[in-house]
Amino acid sequence: MTAPKIRIYGDPVLHQPARPVTEFDDALAALVDDLFAAMRVAEGVGLAAPQIGVDLAVFVYDCPDETGERQVGHVVNPTIEVSAERQGGDEGCLSVPGPYHELERAASATVTGVDRTGAPLTVSGTGFFARCLQHETEHLHGVLYVDHLPRNRRRRVLRDMEPYEWNAPMVSRPS
Ligand code: NI
Repeated sequence: MTAPKIRIYGDPVLHQPARPVTEFDDALAALVDDLFAAMRVAEGVGLAAPQIGVDLAVFVYDCPDETGERQVGHVVNPTIEVSAERQGGDEGCLSVPGPYHELERAASATVTGVDRTGAPLTVSGTGFFARCLQHETEHLHGVLYVDHLPRNRRRRVLRDMEPYEWNAPMVSRPS
C-alpha cells in the first residue's frame, strides 16, 4: 500500500470544517490505517483526515507525552476541553512543511470522541501531547497553527515552506 500524500496549506480541504463521521464501516477503518501510514512516512506526531484530502472528523496521533511516554491512537468526531494554564513551545505542521514557530497553547487538554467502531473514548494529555491534541482537533475545524500567528509572521512561515516527497503538489504558493 502506498501512503496518501499530505496536502499543503492553500489546499481548500485544509481550510474548511470536516464533516462528522456517521458510518462506522470498513471505509472508516481504512481511513484510520491510511492516516497512520501517511503520518509514519512523514515521521509526524499527528495527522488529521483533511490533510490527506478527506473531509471527515478523524485524526491519529503517535506522540510523546510530558513524561516521554509514547501515546498512540485515533479519535473520531472529537470535542476538546483545555486548561486555563498555558505553555510556550514550538509548533510545526506536515501541511506547512519545513518551518516551526513559537505558539502558546493550553498546558493540558482532554479530547472526547469515539473510536473507529463508534465506542466512546477520552484522551487527556499535558505538555507536547496536549499541544498535539489541540493542533489536530483544530485541523478538523479548518484551522492550521499558522492561522494563530500575526499576519507578517504567518507570511514568513508560509514563504519558508519546503515540500517533501511525501507532500502533495502545492495548490497555490501563498503570497
Ligand atoms: Ni498539522
